[in-house]
Amino acid sequence: MHDNFSKYIDNKVFKVVSGQADELGLETYVIGGYVRDLILERSSKDIDIVTIGNGIKLATHVAKKLNSNIKVNVFKNFGTAQFKYKGTDLEFVGARKESYRKDSRKPVVEDGTIEDDQNRRDFTINALAISLNTDRFGVLIDPFGGVEDLEKKTIRTPLDPDVTFDDDPLRMMRGIRFATQLKFKIEKKTLDAITRNCDRIAIVSKERIVDELNKIMMSEKPSIGFKLMDNTGLLELIMPEVAALKGVEVVDGVGHKDNFMHTLKVLDRIAPNTQNLWLRWAALFHDVAKPLTKKYVDGLGWTFHGHNYVGSKVIPRIFRRIKLPLNDKMKFVQKMVNLHMRPIVLSEDEVTDSAVRRLLFEAGDDIDELMTLCEADITSKNEAKVKQYLSNFKLVRKKLKEIEEKDAVRNFQPPVKGEEIMDLFGIKPCREVGIIKNAIKEAILDGEIHNNYDEAYEFMLKKADELGLKRGG
Ligand code: CTP
Repeated sequence: MHDNFSKYIDNKVFKVVSGQADELGLETYVIGGYVRDLILERSSKDIDIVTIGNGIKLATHVAKKLNSNIKVNVFKNFGTAQFKYKGTDLEFVGARKESYRKDSRKPVVEDGTIEDDQNRRDFTINALAISLNTDRFGVLIDPFGGVEDLEKKTIRTPLDPDVTFDDDPLRMMRGIRFATQLKFKIEKKTLDAITRNCDRIAIVSKERIVDELNKIMMSEKPSIGFKLMDNTGLLELIMPEVAALKGVEVVDGVGHKDNFMHTLKVLDRIAPNTQNLWLRWAALFHDVAKPLTKKYVDGLGWTFHGHNYVGSKVIPRIFRRIKLPLNDKMKFVQKMVNLHMRPIVLSEDEVTDSAVRRLLFEAGDDIDELMTLCEADITSKNEAKVKQYLSNFKLVRKKLKEIEEKDAVRNFQPPVKGEEIMDLFGIKPCREVGIIKNAIKEAILDGEIHNNYDEAYEFMLKKADELGLKRGG
């Protein structure tokens, strides 16, 4: 591969950095992820600049030259400075001898050479640097064979992996994340070190771990990451509930499917169909309560009764522990997990209008996502069966559309409001109002009446009469 990259970095930003670095007499490089992505021809919005000397000074000079209005964020304790220029994030740092830790709370103490700085980075593919000073503009500095590792698709630490992971145990997760995103293999020595050091993940903040998990989730094939987490022991530590899905139990010669492998298939199957991170999390957790609800019943075989409902109830605990947000995103995941069986059950039976209406009522605006999850959930090896299910789903989707056009129950609003009932019969909020409102909803969902005011009003009068309510109280 090339060892002069001048033509790839021939743009205004790098030219300005180069000029300012020369003027200040600072040996300067672009380093890390940007260089890796340049060689991999991936787009990258973050540029890390390392200089032998004062990174903050260089940053302020560069920013001023690019545009005098740029606001530079200076982190004096860490010796770093950062600013945005035309959508790109530029970060400047002085080379260090100490471990490179982006968000370490410890201030940087010792200055170092470019070699020191590269030594302390996480992986060979992330330790590549390109010179920016004019006399060496574009020269690649690759002390650990990072380019070769990019060609061989290998994740490997520059130093003894025990040292690299000890410096920052999050790197174990980063390695797995890069292996997943880039579809690279983790070199055996590095992988063994992750297994050996997996317990050390306990000292890493949850926020940093969940960032890596989200990146694994959003990869083209998330199963790569989950299998690596499983093989190294990290899964058991970070998400024991998911690790518990592993394995097959056999009673009377009858086994159930390995729910971990099934879950990973669902995750990979949903990935091409959605960029919604939360739907992907729902795919990971859709069967999470299977181990909790598993029962062998004579004559029936293995059952997982209520696993969807129980699953939706365990999710807050998992979200809280791994620091996923406890907001409407979590509620969405709970809803998906709770409803994930519904379209399947529906498509197994005759697809009746009222069943479709009920599904629409419960799923609301999330119905399309729910269908996407269900389609991904069909992982049977029996091709005919898969075909049958998927074509039934098509029918369900068609019916969903028809019914929604007719009855608009997707975001159901009671056509007759409680206040109106109370006014009409001169009553205060009470059980009867609830009974009537619920009866109206049920009648609409069952298709007994249409979702409109007049029919609902008529129905309400009838129901009130049955309850012995008199107009005006
Ligand atoms: N780095 C490191 N150890 C860490 C984090 C970062 O050695 N725990 C170094 C690597 O050299 C990395 C660079 O800092 O390339 C920038 O880190 P970051 O921006 O977090 O990651 P990228 O490698 O740029 O990758 P991505 O943008 O995909 O996260």
